[in-house]
Amino acid sequence: MPAVLIDDVHKRFGNLEVLKGVSLTVEPGQVVALIGRSGSGKSTLLRCINGLEAIQSGRIEVAGHIVDQDPKHLRELRKDVGIVFQSYNLFPHLTVSQNIMLSPRITQNVPQAQAETLAREVLAQVGLSEKFDSYPDNLSGGQQQRVAIARSLAMRPKVMLFDEVTSALDPELTGEVLLVMEKLAKGGMTMLLVTHEMNFARNVASTTIFMHQGKIWESGPSRELFSNPQTPELRNFVSAGAH
Ligand SMILES: Nc1ncnc2c1ncn2[C@@H]1O[C@H](COP(=O)(O)OP(=O)(O)OP(=O)(O)O)[C@@H](O)[C@H]1O
Ligand SMILES: [Mg+2]
Repeated sequence: MPAVLIDDVHKRFGNLEVLKGVSLTVEPGQVVALIGRSGSGKSTLLRCINGLEAIQSGRIEVAGHIVDQDPKHLRELRKDVGIVFQSYNLFPHLTVSQNIMLSPRITQNVPQAQAETLAREVLAQVGLSEKFDSYPDNLSGGQQQRVAIARSLAMRPKVMLFDEVTSALDPELTGEVLLVMEKLAKGGMTMLLVTHEMNFARNVASTTIFMHQGKIWESGPSRELFSNPQTPELRNFVSAGAH
C-alpha cells in the first residue's frame, strides 16, 4: 500500500483551476521534493493531502485513510499525517515541552508522564534537548522551526509534509533545519516536501516533482531530473536557480 496515493486530482478556487489532474504515489520511506514556480500549486497540493482544502474531483489516500471532508475521517487522518509550514505557530505562553505535549495530551489522551517522555524523545531527535523548559521567544528562528518539527513528530506520524519550512529563516539558520530533515529522511520517514532549496531536493529527495501551471510537468529520480531536464520549463527553472 503506498503511503500517499493521489489520482487525477482537480482543485479549483472559484473559477481558478489550481490543480489540473495531478496523480502521484509516495511509497513508505520515500522522500519526494516538490518544486516549481510561485503559484504552480505546490502548497495547494500539500493542503489537499491532509484535507485542509477540499478537492473537486479525483482521489487522495494517505496511510490508508481516504481524504474527504468528513470531520471524523479528518481527525483519524491527522493522527497519521504531520504538516509543518513556513511559520512555526508555536504558542508563546507555553514552554517548548508544553507546546509539544499539547496535541498528544488532547487528541490522544496520552498521560502527562508519558507525554513528557515523548517530548524528550522528539526534542532529542531535533537536537534541542536542552530547550525543554524554554519559551519560544527565547529561541532562534531555526530552533523554533525545529520545535515545530518536534511537535509534529510527537504525534508519531506515518507521513510528514513540509511546506517551505526554511523560507522565513536567515540563511545561517537554514542549514540546521535542513539537517534535521535530512536525519528524518535517513531514519526512514515518509516525506513530501515543498522546497526552494534545490541542493537539498537533489541530495536528499529520491524523487523530485516539478509542478507547472497546476500539473506535474516533469518528475523522476532527483539527480537525473536536475542534471537532465526534459522540458524547457524545467530547464529554465533550474538555470534560473529556482523561484
Ligand atoms: N485560498 C485560496 N483562494 C483563492 N486562490 C488561492 C487560494 N490558495 C491559493 N490560491 C491560488 O492558487 C494558485 C496556487 O497557489 P499555491 O499557494 O498552491 O502555489 P505555490 O506553488 O505554493 O506558490 P509559492 O511558491 O508562491 O508558495 C495561486 O494562483 C494562488 O493565488
Ligand atoms: Mg506555496
